[in-house]
Amino acid sequence: MTKKRLWITRRLSDATLERAARDYEVVINHDDTPGTAEDIIAASAEFDAIIPCHSEHFSADVVAQLDPRLKIVANHSVGVDHCDLPALAARGITITNTPDVLSDATAELAMLLMLGAARHAVAGDRLVRTGGWDSWSPAFMVGKQVTGARVGIIGMGRVGRAFAAKARGFDMDVHYYNRSELSADLAQGATYHETVESLLGVADFLSLHCPATPETTNLMNTERFAMLPAGAVVVNTARGALIDEDSLMAALDRGHVAAAGLDCFKVEPGGNPALSSYDNVFMLPHIGSATRTTRDAMGFRALDNLDAFFAGQTPQDQL
Ligand code: DGY
Repeated sequence: MTKKRLWITRRLSDATLERAARDYEVVINHDDTPGTAEDIIAASAEFDAIIPCHSEHFSADVVAQLDPRLKIVANHSVGVDHCDLPALAARGITITNTPDVLSDATAELAMLLMLGAARHAVAGDRLVRTGGWDSWSPAFMVGKQVTGARVGIIGMGRVGRAFAAKARGFDMDVHYYNRSELSADLAQGATYHETVESLLGVADFLSLHCPATPETTNLMNTERFAMLPAGAVVVNTARGALIDEDSLMAALDRGHVAAAGLDCFKVEPGGNPALSSYDNVFMLPHIGSATRTTRDAMGFRALDNLDAFFAGQTPQDQL
């Protein structure tokens, strides 16, 4: 049987590329540069399937120009805010993502950001590295203790629950807001809040785990930052769209928010240069799911979805 033609837009893990090359006629973007709108439109005429990352944007405008040859967009990401889902559905193009397999890696990074923000990781590292560490005092770099503290989670999906499990390892008192209350076996004792506002009122630590949608854009704005307890620490491993960065900086300036840990920014790549002047903001370049184990698992999950689709089945992660 002739192999289906597959375009892989970025340099995925070696194991993923090997398996893809075995089962498909694959073209890989070895330059590893983000695919442009023109690249995507051109590829749609040559390939039956595309595995993109969140760096390739399937906007309504791009989708309208896709060639009918393209049958499936099998994302190598759980987030699909880079894809216009109704536009793809209207064109009859199947779309899938990679849930589950990146939950632990992302939750792990949220813990790192929370701990790093709470315990002056940026300022401390810089001090030692630059040779400026010339004294010590009990009053020096005193941070906020994570163990036993109260943490609020917005979005108790797979990543939010993986983060809650890790937070419980630090004896944290877990509270959450979600569109609906979880069953007891999923909540594992976490306290449900019916509104974001109610959750914010108790969130000494706050971790964001909801998708970026029109409803969640600037979810954390001036008003909402003010609802946090004084000295709160804010963590975002979900999407930059969730935080109004000017409001965050204003809350940091007032000292109302003590510190933040961010893996996602409004502008990516690059981030927000204004945030760089804050020693109490611990920043990473969108690497939540970047472990070897998880990259293999994401690639395999995208390929599983493709295999199912071309075998005439419904892919497990069809959206
Ligand atoms: C995801 O899977 O959505 C991560 O942000 C990486 O793209």
